[in-house]
Amino acid sequence: MTAAAHAEVKAYPPSAETVARAHVNAAKYEEMYAASIADPAAFWGEQGKRLDWIKPYTQVKDVNYSFGNVSINWYADGTLNVAANCLDRHLKTRGDQTAIIWEPDEPTDEAQHITYAELHRRTCRMANILESMGVRKGDRVVIYLPMIPEAAYAMLACARIGAIHSIVFAGFSPDALAARVNGCDAKVIITADEAPRGGRKTPLKSNADAALLHCKDSVKCLVVKRTGGQTTWIDGRDYDYNEMALEADDYCAPAEMNAEDPLFILYTSGSTGQPKGVVHTTGGYLVYAAMTHEISFDYHDGDIYWCTADVGWVTGHSYIVYGPLANGATTLMFEGVPTYPDASRFWQVCEKHKVNQFYTAPTAIRALMGQGKEYVEKCDLSDLKVLGTVGEPINPEAWNWYNDVVGKGRCPIVDTWWQTETGGHLMTPLPGAHALKPGSAMKPFFGIQPVVLDPQSGVELNGNGVEGVLCIKDSWPGQMRTVWGDHERFEKTYFADYKGYYFTGDGCRRDEDGDYWITGRVDDVINVSGHRMGTAEVESALVAHAAVAEAAVVGYPHEIKGQGIYCYVTLMNDQEPTEELRQELRKWVRTEIGPIASPDVIQWAPGLPKTRSGKIMRRILRKIAENDFGSLGDTSTLADPSVVDDLIANRASK
Ligand code: WTA
Repeated sequence: MTAAAHAEVKAYPPSAETVARAHVNAAKYEEMYAASIADPAAFWGEQGKRLDWIKPYTQVKDVNYSFGNVSINWYADGTLNVAANCLDRHLKTRGDQTAIIWEPDEPTDEAQHITYAELHRRTCRMANILESMGVRKGDRVVIYLPMIPEAAYAMLACARIGAIHSIVFAGFSPDALAARVNGCDAKVIITADEAPRGGRKTPLKSNADAALLHCKDSVKCLVVKRTGGQTTWIDGRDYDYNEMALEADDYCAPAEMNAEDPLFILYTSGSTGQPKGVVHTTGGYLVYAAMTHEISFDYHDGDIYWCTADVGWVTGHSYIVYGPLANGATTLMFEGVPTYPDASRFWQVCEKHKVNQFYTAPTAIRALMGQGKEYVEKCDLSDLKVLGTVGEPINPEAWNWYNDVVGKGRCPIVDTWWQTETGGHLMTPLPGAHALKPGSAMKPFFGIQPVVLDPQSGVELNGNGVEGVLCIKDSWPGQMRTVWGDHERFEKTYFADYKGYYFTGDGCRRDEDGDYWITGRVDDVINVSGHRMGTAEVESALVAHAAVAEAAVVGYPHEIKGQGIYCYVTLMNDQEPTEELRQELRKWVRTEIGPIASPDVIQWAPGLPKTRSGKIMRRILRKIAENDFGSLGDTSTLADPSVVDDLIANRASK
C-alpha cells in the first residue's frame, strides 16, 4: 500500500455506550500514558497494588538494558504468591462465583462451572499431590495436558508451592516433549490419558511414555483421567491423579515467593537453533497480566470472558488463567476446535454461556469466514461487548467480517500485539479510548515505548509515516527475564542487534497519525496459524531424515493459516524424488516436532541458492515461494546462479 492509501483507512470510533462503560477513555489514556512514561517507578508502584503482597515492595524498577549486563527486576524486594492472588484473596468476596467455565469438546457433554472455592480446593489438592511426589520450590514441572480444568489446577498448584511450570502444547510430538523435559530438567510430567479435540483423540499418555524413554529415569508422570482410554502403566513412575486427589488434603499453604522468582518457563521458537525457554517471574508478570486483561478487554466484574487459545501458548497463560483469575474474573476454557461439530461452535458457546468478551486469532476468523455467515447468524451474540484478536496481523477482510458479522458493528475489536517474551499486550487499541483502524495495533499500552528503527543503521526513525524494525525502549513489568539456563542467548537474541533496546523481531510502520501497524517478522520466524515456528527447527527435522542432504524452509502467504511452510529439499545422491518420499517427509516432520509443523509444500531442489561463502540466500527462496519472480534482486553474487532458474521452473504448484 502507498502512503496515500494508508491515509484513507477508515477509522471506527467507539460508541458512546462503549466509552461510558470503559475503564479508560481517550482523555484518561493520554493522561495515564504520559504519567507511565514520565515516572515509570511511580506508575508501576501504584499498579503493583493490584496484588496482595506478603511483604510489600519498597523498590519498583531496577533495569539495565546495556548489552553484556542486561538485568531486569521489578518489585524485587517484595514477596507474594501467585496462586494466593488468583484464589485465596477472592474467597471471601467471590467464593461462590464461577472462576472457570469449562466447555468440553463434545457439545452434548456437560459444561462445568468451577467456583473460586472449588478451584482453590482443587489447586490445593494438586499442590499436595505434587509435594508428595517430591516436588519442591524451584523444581520444574512439565504440563502436557488437554484443555481441561486440571491444566489450570496444575499451573496454580505449581505456583502455590513455588515450582516452575513449563507447559508443552498437547499437539507437540514425543520428541519435542522430551526435549522440553530435558531442557529444564523437570522432575514431573503432568499429562492425561487422552486429549479429545474436534472429535478425535490424541494419545497423550503414550506420547509421554515415548518421551520418557529419552528422559532421566527419575522423571515421574502424574496422569489425569480424561477419557478413561487404555494406557500402559509403570508402577513407581506413573501416578494416578484421580485416585490421589480423593485422598489429598484440601489445603496447602502458599509458598512465600520473591517477586523475581521464576513462575514459568515457556519454550518458543526463534530465528536460530532450537526453541528457547522464555522465563517469566512472579510479581511483575502478574501485575502486567492482570492490568492488561482488565484494561485491554475492558473487563468488568460479572462479565464472562472467553479466550479461545490453548494454555500451551502464552496467550493461554496470561489471558485464560493468570490475568483473569488475578482479577477475580469468570474465564471460559474450551477444549475443542472452532469447526467441530460444525462452524457455528464458537458462536454457540458464546450464546450458551453469554460471553461478553471474546478473544481469538485471525486464522480462526478466516477459517470461519470461509464457511459463511449463516453459522454466526443463527446464534444470539447480543451479550458480546468486546472482541479481540492476537497472533498475527489481521487482514482487513477478516477484520471487517469479525466486526460486521460477529460484532454487528457494536463491539470494538482490540488487535493485541505482543509476544511470548512480553508476558502481556504491548500494543492494542483500548475499547473506549481509540478509533479503530482495521489491521492496526494502534497504540502502546501504558509504560511501553515503541521505537521504529532503521534496520541497517539502527537509528531511531522519528516522526510519523515511517517504517522499520520495531524495538521497545525501556522495560515493563511483564517482560521476560532470561532464557532458561542461557542468559547469554537472551542478550544475544534481544539486545545485541540494536543496543539499548529490546528487539522484537517484528517490522512495523508508524502511520501519519502516529498509529502502529505490525508488518510481520523480520527474522527467520514464521507464523503459521498464529503459532510461531522457527524455520531452522523444521530444517533440522528434515535433515535428520536419512534421505535428505540439505533443506531450506521459508514462509509463504497462506489464505487460512496466514503463512504456510514451504520446504526446499535437496536429496541424497542416490534418492529418487518420489511422491511417497514427499509424504514420508511430511509425516517425519510431524513426528519430529508435531502436526503444527507439517510442511505445506515440499519442493525438490537439486541445488539451493548460496553465496560464494556458502550462505543460503533465503530472500530468493522466499520470493520464489511467494511466486514473485520479478523482484528476485541481485543474483549475481550466487555461487551458481543457474539453481535459481531451476527452482523457478520447478516451483511446486501448491
Ligand atoms: C505476531 C503470541 C500482528 C508477531 C501472543 C509477534 C502479531 C509474534 C500480533 C509473537 C498482532 C502477535 N498483530 N502480529 N496482533 N500478535 N503477532 O510469541 O509477529 O506466539 O512477534 O505470541 O506473533 O508470537 P507469540
